[in-house]
Amino acid sequence: MSVKKLLTKSTSLKGEIKVPGDKSISHRAVMFGSISNGMTKVTNFLPGEDCLSTISCFRSLGVEIEQSGSEVTIHGKGLDGLRRSDHTLYVGNSGTTIRLLMGILSGLSFDTRLEGDESIAKRPMTRVTIPLSEMGAKITGKNNGEFTPLTVSGKNLKGITYELPVASAQVKSAILLAGLQAEGVTTVIEPVKTRDHTERMIRQFGGSVEQHSDKVIVSGGQELTGTNIEVPGDISSAAFFLTAGAITPGSEIVLKNVGLNPTRTGIIDVLREMGADLSIENDDQSSAEPAGDIRIKYSQLKGTTVAGELIPRLIDEIPVIALLATQAEGQTVIKDAAELKVKETNRIDTVVNELTKLGAKIEATEDGMIIEGKTNLKGGNVSTYGDHRIGMMLSVAALISSEEVYLEDSEAIAVSYPAFYEDLNSLK
Ligand code: S3P
Repeated sequence: MSVKKLLTKSTSLKGEIKVPGDKSISHRAVMFGSISNGMTKVTNFLPGEDCLSTISCFRSLGVEIEQSGSEVTIHGKGLDGLRRSDHTLYVGNSGTTIRLLMGILSGLSFDTRLEGDESIAKRPMTRVTIPLSEMGAKITGKNNGEFTPLTVSGKNLKGITYELPVASAQVKSAILLAGLQAEGVTTVIEPVKTRDHTERMIRQFGGSVEQHSDKVIVSGGQELTGTNIEVPGDISSAAFFLTAGAITPGSEIVLKNVGLNPTRTGIIDVLREMGADLSIENDDQSSAEPAGDIRIKYSQLKGTTVAGELIPRLIDEIPVIALLATQAEGQTVIKDAAELKVKETNRIDTVVNELTKLGAKIEATEDGMIIEGKTNLKGGNVSTYGDHRIGMMLSVAALISSEEVYLEDSEAIAVSYPAFYEDLNSLK
């Protein structure tokens, strides 16, 4: 059901928020718990639709998983404990679920059929099916395995050395998950370093992995053991409030317990570069995933360039960075970000089209966008196009728009942040 939401301008935002658990880490906690031996307890799990899709897939593969809100208990019986499902696994909107799951299924001796929603059906899968097939898996799907529905027939795998053609943590992780089951050593070479939650989690579950600046190496045949995982808050969710605080006059917001893994903190670097008044408090580096509180205050911003090695460290924050740029003096250039075209929507097109409707001066380029600031945003009819991050970005834009904003398909936000509007309203 499509829900059209009326959004209005806000005065200053004040207060504290605990954003929900990190999406990437929540997916991985369920996956590693499911392929390990023994019990795994996950706290501050993100109960958003994407991560619930991961739980439902592993339940279909015979894993006993209890979930109540943000608490999850997984009764892992190791990789051998996974069983063939008698039905197609449905991954919903989740690219992380399908791509990482393919890595796990590649080494299991049964067939699994996978499909997702309309958005998943358009997303490229050969980036994972090519390396997994090279390792020995048999994967068939629409258009020679390019698109869903896909069927993975697990086989005995052999380790490979694979140079990623695109910087993608999902592809790296799929290969590492297959590599844990392969004969010999698997090496993934990255063009640019991407988020390393999989690597950190292999260690948390008692496995070993070698991390270098440009490559990751795992040995096959490792036995993993269940453990307790405390998921930090999602910096990609926090980014919407960091932006709201930075652009809504008079605001001061504190975001509690946000994950500060350096492979994810590009948004903090960009905000600082733009002149935002931002500070980190209670920085805790003692856990497998660092975390801390972030305080942001409204301030005058200036344009910047976002490119190169920074891109994978903020890939999901680019829609909201485009909004920040509309409120910054001067030009902002975002480049080297062609990957945006294959996200939940083509995020170059959706960001440019929807922000243009609200009065932004923004232009699409081949691999990014160029924004001229500072502009006054006005009201209008916009849509998420089923993309949660576009929905939250537009909801933050509405806070400073001079007229009413109507947001079509606002329900998409539940993919990663079911309580987004409750949290936003608590600051008003
Ligand atoms: C993710 C990796 C990124 C990111 C996605 C989550 C992950 O995708 O955009 O939201 O959890 O590994 P790519 O690997 O396609 O860049």
